[in-house]
Amino acid sequence: MTVALIVAAGSGERLGADRPKALVELAGRTMLGHSIDALSAARGIERIVVALPRGVHLFDLPPGVECVEGGEARSDSVRNALEAAGERDELVLVHDAARPLLEPELAERVIAALVGDPAADAAIAATPVTDTIKRAGPDGTVLETLPRSELWAVQTPQVFRRRALAGALALGAGELAGATDDASLVERAGGRVIVVPADPANLKVTTPVDLRLAELLLSERRGPAG
Ligand code: CTP
Ligand code: MG
Repeated sequence: MTVALIVAAGSGERLGADRPKALVELAGRTMLGHSIDALSAARGIERIVVALPRGVHLFDLPPGVECVEGGEARSDSVRNALEAAGERDELVLVHDAARPLLEPELAERVIAALVGDPAADAAIAATPVTDTIKRAGPDGTVLETLPRSELWAVQTPQVFRRRALAGALALGAGELAGATDDASLVERAGGRVIVVPADPANLKVTTPVDLRLAELLLSERRGPAG
């Protein structure tokens, strides 16, 4: 069995809403609510631990869902949720509440990829990059054009063997602070991570334009009957 951790403790500064980003409503449900629905419906997931902003309490949670207080950095929120999850499950799925378009099928596929590759420490949802990506210095001079065929834009869910994730989170505070995803910590600790192709529609809501796009996609998914 897999325990799912949803990190929802960010403030959502770039979105600039009047409440923490995970509690912003989208197509009649909070962003966090959409992720809880998707992960509750995924086969193989029985428990969900949500990391919430300090002072936020949720009521009427579905069975199997519990909450903990998040931390200063995203990795602190993951660590708090992992501690609350305990050691019962061998696999741990981490998902950002900022990706409300998650579908149960993707969570199932990422779990299956890790189960199917005993030599991997983590499997992560990702989409092939469509733009050409260049690296530039501080003065704007292009230093390098990266080979696009090898590039993947990484999403969540990311699924880990519990010990690999716990080990990665034990890295120093400096390394944790600079990491924008958990898989990079596993890589740095020498672990093997595999990508699982995902739909680019599983987008991350960061700015107001993302919110509008997510709303449009969610209402389309529901169909004209609403
Ligand atoms: N997150 C978290 N704890 C933190 C910071 C972020 O649980 N201390 C979560 C967010 O709630 C989000 C995910 O990590 O679901 C990805 O982070 P991001 O998109 O950066 O969200 P915010 O940090 O809330 O947004 P911003 O950076 O614009 O403030
Ligand atoms: Mg952030």
